[in-house]
Amino acid sequence: MCGIVGYIGHREAYPVVLKGLKRLEYRGYDSAGVAIYDGKNIKLSKTKGKVVDLENRIKDEISVDGTLAIGHTRWATHGEPNDVNSHPHYSNSGELVIIHNGIIENYEPLKQELINRGYVFHSDTDTEVLVNLIEDVKKNEDVKLGKAVQIALNQVVGAYAIAVFDQKKPDEIVVARLGSPLVIGVGEDEFFIASDASPFIEYTNNAIYLEDEEMAIVRRGKKVKVRKIKDDSLVDPYVQELQLNLEQIEKGGYDHFMLKEIYEQPRAILDTFRGRMLANEGIIRMAGVDDNIEKFVNANRILIVACGTSWHAGLVAEYVFENLTRIPVEVEYASEFRYRNPIITENDVVIAISQSGETADTMAAIKLAKSKGAFVFGVCNVVGSSISRETDAGAYTHAGPEIGVASTKAFTTQITVLTLIALKLAQKKGTISKSEFHQYLSEMDAIPAKVEKTLESANHVKTIADIYKDATNFLYLGRGYNFPVALEGALKLKEISYIHAEGYPAAEMKHGPIALIDEQMPVVVIATRKGHYEKVVSNIQEIKSRKGKIIAVVMQGDKSIKKIADYVIEIPETLELLTPLLTTIPLQLLSYYIAVMRDCNVDQPRNLAKSVTVE
Ligand code: F6R
Repeated sequence: MCGIVGYIGHREAYPVVLKGLKRLEYRGYDSAGVAIYDGKNIKLSKTKGKVVDLENRIKDEISVDGTLAIGHTRWATHGEPNDVNSHPHYSNSGELVIIHNGIIENYEPLKQELINRGYVFHSDTDTEVLVNLIEDVKKNEDVKLGKAVQIALNQVVGAYAIAVFDQKKPDEIVVARLGSPLVIGVGEDEFFIASDASPFIEYTNNAIYLEDEEMAIVRRGKKVKVRKIKDDSLVDPYVQELQLNLEQIEKGGYDHFMLKEIYEQPRAILDTFRGRMLANEGIIRMAGVDDNIEKFVNANRILIVACGTSWHAGLVAEYVFENLTRIPVEVEYASEFRYRNPIITENDVVIAISQSGETADTMAAIKLAKSKGAFVFGVCNVVGSSISRETDAGAYTHAGPEIGVASTKAFTTQITVLTLIALKLAQKKGTISKSEFHQYLSEMDAIPAKVEKTLESANHVKTIADIYKDATNFLYLGRGYNFPVALEGALKLKEISYIHAEGYPAAEMKHGPIALIDEQMPVVVIATRKGHYEKVVSNIQEIKSRKGKIIAVVMQGDKSIKKIADYVIEIPETLELLTPLLTTIPLQLLSYYIAVMRDCNVDQPRNLAKSVTVE
């Protein structure tokens, strides 16, 4: 939900900020803009559209020289995506300029007050209200920018990561956060500001992650000063050394990040269990689980909260946990959970799953669960993210940066982590036998190679994509562990190709969706041999007799379904519980190729953003 970037130091700031904006475009791409201090004045250029549109336009508009700049890439909340609503926003005097990720919820009364005091607004945004509020405080209370920001933010309800600077004091940028991420890159006599570390990783590995309700003054040639917004107390900033490298955030020869990330899955899954699972020794060790093993083992139930693809991983985990550990599991949309007065007790373990670690609804669900005394465990991909810091303990997925907006490797690595946890608990509780435990470990060990093998079906999947690329509806069916995979397959297709798709448990089809089936309707059926196979075969027959087209994902060597399906895609043989790690792959590829063939923007689908930091 919007990306923010800033630079102050000895380099030309514009190229740094522009490159940073391109890296953060996954967070929103409705509009883009920059403000540069050229030594005398603030120069501002912004436009509806993508960063490349800004790049093309800026040369005709302003000179881009200067060593202080801020930039923004927007996912629209208040005000339609147009040039005027794009960030940065000036204050009325033109002296202050701001970028903002988040929502100021009480912007209307604040705006009215400012209008009453003579302020004029040009955009429909909440952000323009904030910058004028800061200006108003600064003038009326005769305080410096940092103090004015602090006073203004104490009047604000909502979420924000902001960066603001003052033309009259161009040696500093003031930043603050509440609910939206903000990280400061600390270089040699230079500082970077960004929504995540990707914009500055080639310049420095040292970063300060601001916590909620903190602000910082980032001043040329000085140490970063961090304070609590509420009570003005000074905070000793923790400078973290990042492990990220540039290669991880570039396309590496692939046409799209999504394809690169699909192909990274063998490595990503391996990285997820490397060092945690010693298959030969029969050991799983995960610090976050080991340190809290009694809480897990004695849990009355496990509650999983997440959104989107992460919620689908949670659903897979429900089947896995209940089967292996016999602990009751409930999976909730974080957005529903947080508002429905759920029953949570101190004996519940809550697992929050989030790739970005920034999803607002998931964060709110965590806070609610913590307030009721539950132990909250996070499964996140982004190291140092807000959720990873808010939870009581956790396990990272180690998938590496996921930049394509459609989640791929995050999903399979989330399932990997959750399966490891379930196996660990099952071993501890004695709910599976020693030999079963060893069998799962050795099969998990083989999964990266089997994912690699599954990826070999890419050309075949591409052929199928070509046949069905013009369909207007798709149905995805699966049972058991693969029901959530059907949901995930449908979501992938919807979000990047804009084809309507629904996922269902295969047996539910006859309770309604079967009415949709005719010769135009492709139905993707996940039909692994050990998962209610005969029942799924019957479901396929029911579709065939209504002339639906069957694309079946089957296990290698399957004979029965080959005879009745229009197309089959094979996955290598594995244990049923682990099949989601393989059956997901062809569905990701199918949606990818269809989207490419339909000329859709795969990595930046319309209306979406990678990290949903608003409700
Ligand atoms: C779909 C997708 C979204 C996210 C959802 C949660 O491909 O990416 O549905 O899964 O927005 O995001 P995280 O996992 O970052 O909390």
